[in-house]
Amino acid sequence: MRIITALSDMTEISARWKKDGRTVGLVPTMGYLHEGHLSLVRAAKRATQAVVVSLFVNPTQFGPNEDFARYPRDLARDAALLEREDVDVLFQPEAKDMYLDGAATFVEVHGLQDKLCGKSRPGHFRGVCTVVLKLFEIVRPTVAVFGQKDAQQAIIVRRMTRDLNLGVAIDVQAIVREPDGLAMSSRNAYLNPAERRAALVLSRSLAEAERSIAAGERRAGIIAAGIKDLVGREPLARIDYVEIVEPVNLDTVSEVTSGTLIALAVYFSKTRLIDNTIVRLGVEKTP
Ligand code: PAJ
Repeated sequence: MRIITALSDMTEISARWKKDGRTVGLVPTMGYLHEGHLSLVRAAKRATQAVVVSLFVNPTQFGPNEDFARYPRDLARDAALLEREDVDVLFQPEAKDMYLDGAATFVEVHGLQDKLCGKSRPGHFRGVCTVVLKLFEIVRPTVAVFGQKDAQQAIIVRRMTRDLNLGVAIDVQAIVREPDGLAMSSRNAYLNPAERRAALVLSRSLAEAERSIAAGERRAGIIAAGIKDLVGREPLARIDYVEIVEPVNLDTVSEVTSGTLIALAVYFSKTRLIDNTIVRLGVEKTP
């Protein structure tokens, strides 16, 4: 595995692969890797012939009161994990190269960026889209792999890729969970033991929603109220949002159907966790 920092080196090696007829996979990450990230890497390995994992804690997607400075970092461990997955390149650009002095151009996906997580994180998706577009330009991947864990991010990146004719295939992989159901996240590292136990309320409330849907409930208001009630009973949890939306424009629905996205964000003191599920009618899910 090569570790590349210079943007021009990254573009050059990718161009060489493509000249040799190899397809290129990109997995964008902010590091502090876990099995969720590695599942994307493995999907990229299966789908393409040369795989780049980018590791960049992107300052433009963090708000002024968010955790940019304390976002967990462990480059040595990340590099070792990716080496073991037989990744071709770990691309680790520096902020001063990614954002040149005077950089004034940003990408916005109107209509989608201000909903769900965008409400409490203004500017977040503008930062995400801008850095993802830049990574696409630098790496020129055939396929880019994202996680369903960040459902809104995957939807917005898909829309940007379509709207701007980027010609990158967007692959979205299922949420990887801890054995007890908590969705894996670099931010789980912030939780103290009591919060870690309390955080199970996200996956449990979604599983409960799935059960009520399997039992015939279709009214989104009732399903959302059930989730809010369960989360509300957890003293350490503070709800940011519970939303039941259609998966293209993220508009609220009154009745769930196959493909409906049920998403929530919950604070445990300053740590904000997200989770979601996609409604599958007719198929009972195991909790
Ligand atoms: P990060 O939070 O590091 O996540 C990188 C990728 O891993 C995202 O596509 C995310 O959805 C996926 N991922 C995280 N946890 C997962 C889990 N438990 N199961 C499956 N996939 C999971 O998302 C970002 O970084 C950034 O916004 C980025 C796209 C890199 C732009 O800066």
